[in-house]
Amino acid sequence: MNNKIKKIINKKNRSKIVCLTAYSKNIAEIIDNHVDIILVGDSLGSVLYNYNTTRKVNLKMMLEHTKSVRMGVKKSLLVIDLPYNTYRNKSEALKNSKKAIKETKCDAVKIEGGIKVKDIVRHLVKNKIPVLGHIGITPQTVKGKFKSKGKTETEKRKLINDAKELEKSGAFGIVLECIYSDISKKITNLIKIPTIGIGASVHCDGQVLVTDDILGLTNAKIKFVKKYTNVKKIVNSAVLKFKKEVKSKKYPSKKYSY
Ligand code: KIV
Repeated sequence: MNNKIKKIINKKNRSKIVCLTAYSKNIAEIIDNHVDIILVGDSLGSVLYNYNTTRKVNLKMMLEHTKSVRMGVKKSLLVIDLPYNTYRNKSEALKNSKKAIKETKCDAVKIEGGIKVKDIVRHLVKNKIPVLGHIGITPQTVKGKFKSKGKTETEKRKLINDAKELEKSGAFGIVLECIYSDISKKITNLIKIPTIGIGASVHCDGQVLVTDDILGLTNAKIKFVKKYTNVKKIVNSAVLKFKKEVKSKKYPSKKYSY
């Protein structure tokens, strides 16, 4: 197991794991100083390309964005989301994971699903590909509206089983997306690998959010999304100043001319 992965696992019950998404070098460079994991999520489909589903994201897009992010990452664990239809069976998953790691130099892959993907996870881990699991709401397979998971006894049992199976299969951690507090607490206490929550309460071993959301670059109106600043406003004001200076010929002054 590589050292970066060991460090992440060792944080369980010691220190919360901080994870954010990045889709490009410039953002990756800034967040790399502060987070443990940088995820190139297939959420880039909706955030950057306005897709109504992550199913439209393909491997080529993920590889190009991850190559850009890699240039900005020095210390964090870099994880790539394997997009929809790229891990339908063991050999497809292995071929695409190897390609992703070879071409982007990322450290690990994330795949969605619980029991359904346990054999794929086991196969990847056996072949030295570190895997981050993802259960609860799994956007690649959601039909209709996103609804938080773990309300009914059947859902609770399924989530617990999914988490246990992913752990048994060798995943080094599991993203819990939109899961009720009591059940994410139970899962976190039950398994030895870290849980990273997104809309899954403070009980998880770590938290992940989409960077564009916390920066106020998107119009996300989701209960668990906290906007920490308003970059749209900052960009707007800088662009307005530039425009005024161009119109008034204040820019470029001598200082900015040859
Ligand atoms: O695609 C993504 O960005 C994700 C995280 C939000 C967990 O899967």
